[in-house]
Amino acid sequence: MKVAVLGAAGGIGQALALLLKNRLPAGSELSLYDIAPVTPGVAVDLSHIPTDVKVKGFCGEDPSPALVGADVVLISAGVARKPGMDRSDLFNINAGIVKNLVEKCAASCPQALIGIITNPVNTTVAIAAEVLKKAGVYDKRRLFGITTLDVIRAETFVAEAKGLNVDKVRVNVIGGHSGVTILPLLSQIEGANFSAEEVAAMTKRIQNAGTEVVEAKAGGGSATLSMGQAACRFGLSLIKGLQGEANVIECAYVEGNGEHASFFAQPILLGKHGVETILDYGKLSAFEQEAMDGMLATLKADIQLGVDFVK
Ligand code: NAD
Ligand code: LMR
Repeated sequence: MKVAVLGAAGGIGQALALLLKNRLPAGSELSLYDIAPVTPGVAVDLSHIPTDVKVKGFCGEDPSPALVGADVVLISAGVARKPGMDRSDLFNINAGIVKNLVEKCAASCPQALIGIITNPVNTTVAIAAEVLKKAGVYDKRRLFGITTLDVIRAETFVAEAKGLNVDKVRVNVIGGHSGVTILPLLSQIEGANFSAEEVAAMTKRIQNAGTEVVEAKAGGGSATLSMGQAACRFGLSLIKGLQGEANVIECAYVEGNGEHASFFAQPILLGKHGVETILDYGKLSAFEQEAMDGMLATLKADIQLGVDFVK
């Protein structure tokens, strides 16, 4: 397996690369690319860790050499939020970065599974899809917005609040990756009963968790270490699916059946071509149904912004 990380010298990229160096299957290759000139040095640094994963680093304007032969591409290149900003404030800079990088993916590794981390994810994934369509290589099974951070946050916060073993808590988070579009399905968690007030407070905490980190870092960026962990979990699941492992399930923001919006975060079964099956996320509580109805206009507008950007 060859995994490319684009944005590899950044806060997420370096954390993710460290985790992948330690956790990719033996014999894998890790290809690190960033415009920052330090990137080959990051690769040399990681290469001293004694695991059977080869690391190569690339920098400069052209990511193509890092992409040739990649099975999985994880993209975290771009700018991060500062206090007072919304994720949508990143659109002006990050839209062009994602467009350019995905154009290069289309040319150099058109079959790769592409996971987008760069914000605003609700929009950058739509940009990536339009770029791949223009290049004639779009396969909706192979493009993902990585929303795993919402899932691990939900699992952590719920386990803490309810005194549960965090290894056993599973939470589906559906919708998108910003504000009201993040919808954790708390009504479905085994062994956790919440009062109506607790559901409202916990949902809000999960929706605002990115801002919690941005404010705590006080101008020093947004979540990097927890996102590195989340992207590693998701990237390894993509690889398990590609390798034919059974029952690999994650939530991700993908093009589904369009029931709610053309892109929607939901549980998916992963397989040899990426998305194998879109899974049913079960019955929503009245609170969740109201939240779902309330998010759709925002989500659809976020997606349309991405479609229009590429046109
Ligand atoms: P960072 O500033 O630490 O790193 C970004 C890296 O991207 C830098 O090394 C920079 O040199 C590189 N870069 C910029 N333009 C590039 C280009 N054209 N080609 C290649 N590399 C380029 O930021 P970060 O904290 O790693 O965050 C990266 C992105 O991830 C942000 O947009 C942030 O909002 C997003 N993010 C998403 C999630 C999520 O849940 N999906 C979570 C956290 C952060
Ligand atoms: C997060 O959820 O932590 C990321 O999307 C980064 C951010 O800007 O909140």
